[in-house]
Amino acid sequence: MKIITSINEMRSYISNKTNASIGLVPTMGYFHDGHLSLMKQARIDNDIVVVSLFVNPIQFGPKEDLKSYPRDIDRDAKMAEDTGVDIIFTPDASEMYPNDYCTYIDVLNITDSLCGASRLGHFRGVATVLTKLFNIVQPSHAYFGMKDYQQLRVVQQMVKDLNIPTEIVPMPTYREPDGLAMSSRNTYLNAEERKAALVLSKSLEYAQQQLNQGYNSAEDLKSKVENFILAEPLANIDYVSIVDDKSLNGIIEVKDTALLALAVKIGKTRLIDNTILKNSK
Ligand code: PAJ
Repeated sequence: MKIITSINEMRSYISNKTNASIGLVPTMGYFHDGHLSLMKQARIDNDIVVVSLFVNPIQFGPKEDLKSYPRDIDRDAKMAEDTGVDIIFTPDASEMYPNDYCTYIDVLNITDSLCGASRLGHFRGVATVLTKLFNIVQPSHAYFGMKDYQQLRVVQQMVKDLNIPTEIVPMPTYREPDGLAMSSRNTYLNAEERKAALVLSKSLEYAQQQLNQGYNSAEDLKSKVENFILAEPLANIDYVSIVDDKSLNGIIEVKDTALLALAVKIGKTRLIDNTILKNSK
């Protein structure tokens, strides 16, 4: 496995690989099994697997955890190598965003709700860095986890709108045995918070059970989920939303499927999770 840090070197590596399929897994590092599941799928599907590792400063708000975001490139490199990755591309922020940097990508409408509403500018930062990474690496396939469902929708929409010739491959949320969605931010949790964090995945299961019992009003389901979460003393709700799973617009009732998405603070750590609710009646 090769670690590439400069944009020119990344470009020259792919320049003579014109007929090879290239799978890109964009990440911010501090790998867990969720990241590795994306890399494994990329390994199955492609001739070359590139993992980008870049803690993208422009997708963090001024009060967010850019400085404290966990980093360990040696550990990550070993895990990626063991998973069969060919290249880790880890550019410097100063090369990605030089002082005269001016260009940003805004994906409208689907960024108005959920994390787009509570983290202003976040998806502009995500869409911009992904456009740059797609241009640098020119992947045939790129892999994204459904854990960050709105991010997946943003990248699908952007690739369609801008005619980017990359196939976006959605991957299921990888969970700990007890149900907690894997996240690099789980390392912020102490033992008590780690237990409390289970309220996210449990509330998703609870919502599906309530739907199975016939509660299909989005407003009723939302307040049931909110009450379920608030029964956990360490939890503070950022948002609970039930929306159309394609447009991410609000809905009145869950007809066939809908997205239930949550952002909840456990102590100081903001965690997200989601599920596709299915109304089988
Ligand atoms: P990061 O949080 O490192 O996640 C990298 C990829 O791993 C994303 O596609 C994310 O959805 C996926 N992922 C994270 N946890 C997962 C889990 N438990 N199961 C399955 N997939 C999971 O998301 C980002 O980085 C950044 O916003 C990025 C896209 C790299 C742009 O900077």
